[in-house]
Amino acid sequence: MSILKEKLREKIVAERPRTEKLMKEFGNVKVDEVTIGQVIGGMRDIKSLVTDISYLDPFEGIRFRGLTIPEVFAKIPKVPNAEMPSVEGFFYFLLTGDIPTETEVAEVRSEFDKRREVPSYVFNILKSMPIDSHPMTMFATGIMSMQKDSIFAKDYHKGLKKANYWEAYYEDAMNLLAKLPEIAAFIYRLKYRDGKIIPSDPKLDFGGNFAHMMGIDKPYDDVARMYFILHSDHESGNVSAHTGHLVASALSDMYYAISAMLNGLAGPLHGLANEEVLRWLHGVMEKMGGKVPTEEDMKQFVYETLKTGVIPGFGHAVLRKTDPRYMAQREFCLKHLPNDLLFKYVDMLFKVVPPILLEQGKAKNPWPNVDAQSGVIQWYYGVKEYEFYTVLFGIGRALGVCSNIIWARALGYALERPKSLTTKMLEDIAFGKK
Ligand code: MLT
Repeated sequence: MSILKEKLREKIVAERPRTEKLMKEFGNVKVDEVTIGQVIGGMRDIKSLVTDISYLDPFEGIRFRGLTIPEVFAKIPKVPNAEMPSVEGFFYFLLTGDIPTETEVAEVRSEFDKRREVPSYVFNILKSMPIDSHPMTMFATGIMSMQKDSIFAKDYHKGLKKANYWEAYYEDAMNLLAKLPEIAAFIYRLKYRDGKIIPSDPKLDFGGNFAHMMGIDKPYDDVARMYFILHSDHESGNVSAHTGHLVASALSDMYYAISAMLNGLAGPLHGLANEEVLRWLHGVMEKMGGKVPTEEDMKQFVYETLKTGVIPGFGHAVLRKTDPRYMAQREFCLKHLPNDLLFKYVDMLFKVVPPILLEQGKAKNPWPNVDAQSGVIQWYYGVKEYEFYTVLFGIGRALGVCSNIIWARALGYALERPKSLTTKMLEDIAFGKK
């Protein structure tokens, strides 16, 4: 058995009693109350999910397994000659909560290597899709097409014990994650580079191989690692993580769950937002005549925009401060592309927009989120096809959602099935008739 799987087994055995005790002895203790506003308003803020993989504090931002982003970047072993940690090491950390040693990272890498070959039928299916299909549709389809290989689906029908479900989900997760970079890069080259496919290089790590197959030189390997890590998880309530969790709670296997998660991510209110930010930014640049505007000009532009619309990339459902994922990417930009025109626009918006939103009282959170910065980096390194950005988000998010699903099966979380009411019932509650 692999080191990672063995470590995970130890952790699961140690963790199970905590969940069991909570369920058995404290199952009736109240966690939260729910208002009509929350029932109609997208279940906002209702505390009804549990995960130890990440936690989103509104004022601090995301912590992965208790660590902030700068701590993750400092502690997870780096790929040799790279600035960023390896995705393999980060995945080990997400799953186990332990910082991996170099040997443990190398072992995850060799596990992925063994499983990375994408079946040729996946490429044939992708090639047969209309070339103007959205890359997210292609990505989700490629993943769905491999569902027939699910180990969980097969073992379940052979009578797999509930206590061992997590192992089959783990195997499916490893098999699937190992293939994602190649499927994504294939879609990119097929759609936007005349189908000139670059074969995978087994000598490279997850992020390095992705950059290689995209056909983009250094430091795009680090951009890929950073991007996948930053987008991996944002606790459980966001649409992609929640969709993956919900679908897998029916014991649909990892292929169904990750493909469904991508379909949720493809929405403009979720993962597609980074594409919208970049489109908007180019519009701003055009209106400003392609020059760096003065702060005063930019303020006027923002006031004008706010008369009829919003500033994309600002605000967040949970966060009440600048998204630390934005700050991490800003730091990367300051180091690698400080003079890039688009980055200068983003930076000026960072200065100008929050005070205006605060002054107008328009947003609960006037600060920029991850999407305000991520497209700029992709554009700079030559990925100019906005619609592909969400696929990159999806590779990253799969790391977190797979980790969550493995743990959900390990701890025996139940089929998700909230209760619905009719509008009349809500009215009765509202008017005190019940
Ligand atoms: C995410 O990363 O999923 C987004 O920031 C959305 C969210 O957390 O609700």
